[in-house]
Parts: sequence; C-alpha cells; structure tokens
Amino acid sequence: MSDTAEGRKKELVSLTREGLACTRCDLAESRTQVVFGAGDPDADLMLVGEAPGAEEDRIGLPFIGRSGILLNRLLEESGISREEVFITSTLKCRPPGNRDPRAAEIESCRPWLFEQIRLIQPRVVATLGNFATRLLSGNPAGITRVHGRAQVHTFGEHTVFLYPLFHPAAALRSTGTAEMLRQDIEALPALLAGDLSGAQMGERT
Ligand code: URA
Repeated sequence: MSDTAEGRKKELVSLTREGLACTRCDLAESRTQVVFGAGDPDADLMLVGEAPGAEEDRIGLPFIGRSGILLNRLLEESGISREEVFITSTLKCRPPGNRDPRAAEIESCRPWLFEQIRLIQPRVVATLGNFATRLLSGNPAGITRVHGRAQVHTFGEHTVFLYPLFHPAAALRSTGTAEMLRQDIEALPALLAGDLSGAQMGERT
C-alpha cells in the first residue's frame, strides 16, 4: 500500500474501477449502475449515507436527489462545499423500490467502504442515518441517541472522528429533525479543525 496522497489516489481509482463492476450481491441484477462515491480523494470530511435512490441509480452519483440538495445546502450554510468532501453510501447499489438494506448486502458491500476510508484517510467520517452509523460504530444504538456527538474510531491503522448525523431523507420528513441536522452540521467545521472542546463523546442517555 502506498503512503503518499498521490499513491492512495491511484489506488482509489483502481478500487473504483473494480467496484463499478461489482457482482458480490443480488443488487447487481436490479441496479442500473453502481454508485461508488464522488468527491475529493484527499478529503478531510467523508460522508456516508445509506444507499443510492432512483436518481443516483440513474446518473451514477451519490446524493443528487432531494436528500442531496438538502445536504448540499446545509453543508454550504456551514461553509463546507461539496467539492471538498467525499460522499458515498453504505450500499453502492440501489435496493429495489428503495427498501432498507439487508444484512447480507451490507456485509457484501462493507469491504468497499472500509477500503475507501483507508485510502481517503479523512479526519472526520460523518455517518448519515442508522445504517452507516451502526456499521461504522459497531454499536446498535439508534441515530436519535448518538447524533451530533463525535466518537473516536480506528479503521485499520487510521483513526477518525466518527460523527453520526440524521439522514437528510429523515430531515425532509420532519422539521424538528431538519433543525437537529442543521445544528449538527454547523458543528462540523470545529470538529474538522480539531477543536473538540465542545464535543462530547458517546451516546445520549
Ligand atoms: N441516500 C443515500 O443514502 N445515498 C445516496 O446516494 C442517495 C440518497
């Protein structure tokens, strides 16, 4: 494995090429295309959603539908542009009818995500919703309990702040959730700057 940013970028390109042809689970039969991820390969902030929806499946890019528009707006309001982050999802293929990801699909797909984290080496991994949060934290606690509090996690040799957030799709359904997501995203720049003085670790009790 390469230690330079340039080397890791090349490895990410190879990984993406391999991922775009993935047939590890049955979703390969129903998807239009793999939505592997997009953004800065050297990003400090990586965002991990649940699974592509209809628009993403059609175009091949993550978070370009209504959830993505809300996410872009909230990031921009906090001074973070979409170009400077890397965005992907727990599943790289759309489940038919946008049903929930199945355990076997998450298991088949997880090596892609862990490789992306290893190669991008972000400082902060923001997980959007229950599926990404449970997978990457290894904790079954729901997003309502854990959102907005940074946790320290090590993936392989790389340590990150894992930062659980509500999924923007949930924020589109509830103004209360949208406000909590806005406040949590507002705290991201301080977390990215390493200013953890205000951050509390762990779950809500
Ligand atoms: N929701 C997700 O979790 N990921 C996408 O790419 C789009 C919507």
